[in-house]
This record gives sequence, structure tokens and C-alpha cells, in this order.
Amino acid sequence: MTSMQETMATIRKYAPNFVPKMGIILGSGLGSIADQLTNPITIPYQAIPGLHSGGVSGHASLLIMGYLQDVPVVCLKGRLHLYEGAPYEAIRTLVRIVRQLGAHTLVVTAAAGSLQPQMKAGEIMLINDHLNFQPGNPLCGSNDESIGPRFLSLANAYDDELRTIMLSVAKRLNILLFEGVYLSLLGPSFETPAEIRMFAQLGADAVGMSVVPEVIIARHAGMKVLGLAAITNLAEGLSSEKVTHEGTLQQGEIAARKLIKLIPEFVKEAARDF
Ligand code: HPA
Repeated sequence: MTSMQETMATIRKYAPNFVPKMGIILGSGLGSIADQLTNPITIPYQAIPGLHSGGVSGHASLLIMGYLQDVPVVCLKGRLHLYEGAPYEAIRTLVRIVRQLGAHTLVVTAAAGSLQPQMKAGEIMLINDHLNFQPGNPLCGSNDESIGPRFLSLANAYDDELRTIMLSVAKRLNILLFEGVYLSLLGPSFETPAEIRMFAQLGADAVGMSVVPEVIIARHAGMKVLGLAAITNLAEGLSSEKVTHEGTLQQGEIAARKLIKLIPEFVKEAARDF
């Protein structure tokens, strides 16, 4: 097993003195946000011990350090999914790299299907809570007390103050921002219409195959989290269109254009406080 020291030593070789204020995880079809970084230093996941490279098209799998609005940030372009066979260990490493580099805030973005008919493809949903329907928890196994507690509270997991900042940024930029609960599934198959009807009754506003493991790991490490779901489709059964990966990538571009405006402004505003 690779140690965290080995992982960090490799990254430090590329950027010895870089201390990001924030980490940003870019979901499927949302990688173009990383093009906004100035003075970027790029490391492929393959070059980082302890990380497996993701293989889904739309995921480039690069760690990029650079500046957004003059604020130092680290972007994770291409996440690791359980459905690809990525172990929780690698997902833990990916998020803990961000914390070890010095960031205390994590912005998590992901493509998602909408369960609210008025929240259509191309819209953005600010995540205010989650439902974990993945088959496990990324903190299972022995606990490293130097990182965080064995039993973790998930109250305010999607930080109130950061959400307030993002809502005011969206208002200023005149970008409609929905708010709601993200339900996370293992995938890789999309849901059935019957499952979507059940999830709607349980209180889900959007469904996807990520976010939750990373948020739990980040909260465990004491990071504040902001979650943004890029709506790429109405969930299965809510429209006559079948959900496909190609369709989600296409619609992801429309949502990405909004995120390209929202995220840099959010970073600038939020970084004022630390
Ligand atoms: N379901 C699950 N994950 C998704 C969807 C969906 O409808 N759209 C984008 N990611």
C-alpha cells in the first residue's frame, strides 16, 4: 500500500511551495473549468502513487494546481468512481491530497439527473444535503484519529455560510440557482422509472453517482464543503427522453458554462474570509 507521505512527496516535486486555499472536484463534462486556471501545473493521476486513473470518457484524470481570480486552487479533473472499480482507499487519498496541500475548503461538482420537472437540463442545483444510497461508507475500516473522528457528524455537511456566499454570487451574476437534496447511487446503470418515483418520495431532488464519498471524506478531514450539481437531464421516467451518457455530456457543457462564471466569483468571495 502506498503511504500518504510517498503520495505527497511526488506532488511536492512538481510544486514545492504551492498552498491552495481550495480544492475543486470537476465532474463528468465539467472539466473545462480547469482551463480557467492561470499558471497551471498539471500532474496526471497515473504519475501519483496511490491513485488509480479513471477510465470513463469525459474524465481526463489530472490534478491541476493554479490560480482562479488570483486565489491558489487545486482542481481534480476527473474523479474516481466506485463503479469503475476504484477502491475507497484511492478516493480517500484523492481528497486527502487536497487537505494535505493546505486547502480547508472543497468545492464538489457533479453531473446529475433532476427529479424536479422545473429544474431542467443545463440548470445548476446547489446541494444542501444528501441521501447516501451507495452500498458503503468511505470511512469504513480502521480510523486514522490524526485525520478525524471515528464517528463523524454530517450536520451542516454542505456548509451554510458557503451556500449563502454562492447564492449571493449567483444573484449578482443573474444565474438561476436551484437548491436541493442530492441522492447518490453506485451506478453505472441509470435508474429505472420506478426507482426515480421512490427516490422522489424519499426527498431527493437530484440523483448521481458521486459526491457523497468525497464529501464524507472531506468532512472527516475537517474541510468545509460546497456542492454543485450540474443538471444534465430529467431523471428517467420524468420525460420521454431516455437517459444516456452522451446526452449527459452534451447538456453538461451548458451547465459548465454557468459554473465557469459562478465558481471563480465564489472562490474570490469565499477566499476573502481566509
Ligand atoms: N442518474 C444518475 N446519474 C446521473 C444522471 C442520472 O439521471 N445524470 C447524470 N448523472
